[in-house]
Amino acid sequence: MSTHLLALQDFTQAQLQTFIERALVLKKERKSGIYHNHLAGRTICLLFEKPSTRTRVSFESAMYGMGGQVIFMSAKETQLDRGEPLKDTARVLARYADAIVVRTFGQEVVDELSKYSDVPVVNALTDLHHPCQILSDVMTVIESKGTLDGLKIVWLGDGNNMANSWIQAASVLGFSLTLACPEGYEPDPALLEAASKVAKHPITLLRDPVEAVRGADVINVDVWASMGQEDESEARLSIFQPYQLNSSLLNKANKEAIVLHCLPAHREEEITEEVLEGAQSVAFDQAENKMHMHKAILELLINDEL
Ligand code: CP
Ligand code: NVA
Repeated sequence: MSTHLLALQDFTQAQLQTFIERALVLKKERKSGIYHNHLAGRTICLLFEKPSTRTRVSFESAMYGMGGQVIFMSAKETQLDRGEPLKDTARVLARYADAIVVRTFGQEVVDELSKYSDVPVVNALTDLHHPCQILSDVMTVIESKGTLDGLKIVWLGDGNNMANSWIQAASVLGFSLTLACPEGYEPDPALLEAASKVAKHPITLLRDPVEAVRGADVINVDVWASMGQEDESEARLSIFQPYQLNSSLLNKANKEAIVLHCLPAHREEEITEEVLEGAQSVAFDQAENKMHMHKAILELLINDEL
């Protein structure tokens, strides 16, 4: 049976640590000029229904970098767009590929594909989760801070797919998390309740961004309107304004605090140019780490080594 990567709550603490530790090793090795052919002769299919720069290219680069091949498909150009069922698509793609990496809207799409696929299905972003991104982000925190223990990790802004996956990461990996979201834009309530029930450290939902950021070691921000919410962009500007990460808000955090943004960023909305380009921002390390993490994910899932 294949292991699918659909949401972080499906994994144990040890398994998530394995992804992170392997990605850190692969990064170190690449910097010393050590390359692996661990996926030689293997092929992945990328099936994307939303735009992507980082996730697409980092998965492609990861696969090629390990000796494998990639087939990229925009979902619109497949028979899915003409109504072919997901269960047929999954069974067909699984005959050609060693893993299927999917970016789509509903979580039920990746759930359904995984039900019918004999090869791993990897969630490369849905409206509900962005699990591979959060694995890279946690890796970036560990790389910068050496540990997750005792850190004040903060999520600021929309309770979106990124926030949901951070909540699950906190629950499974066992670190505390503070979120500050405007009213009506909280993370998925059922997901938050389920994660909090099994979490060993508090997952705290606040309203006030200043209270959240005070004493923070790690601050995460993301766009105020995610893909598919473009028609709400204008209305969200004023609602989210107090949550903008600018230098005045950042100054309330610990001096050594790092700033994460999964990118793409909307400068002068959720983050100012000054903060994004400032010394505390690790956004571009975070972007790089996606490639190392995707190598680890593909290697561990395709070779069934988790
Ligand atoms: N962070 C991220 O997922 O970026 P892309 O949308 O460019 O893939
Ligand atoms: N929350 C954002 C993340 C983009 C990588 C979105 O879903 O558009």
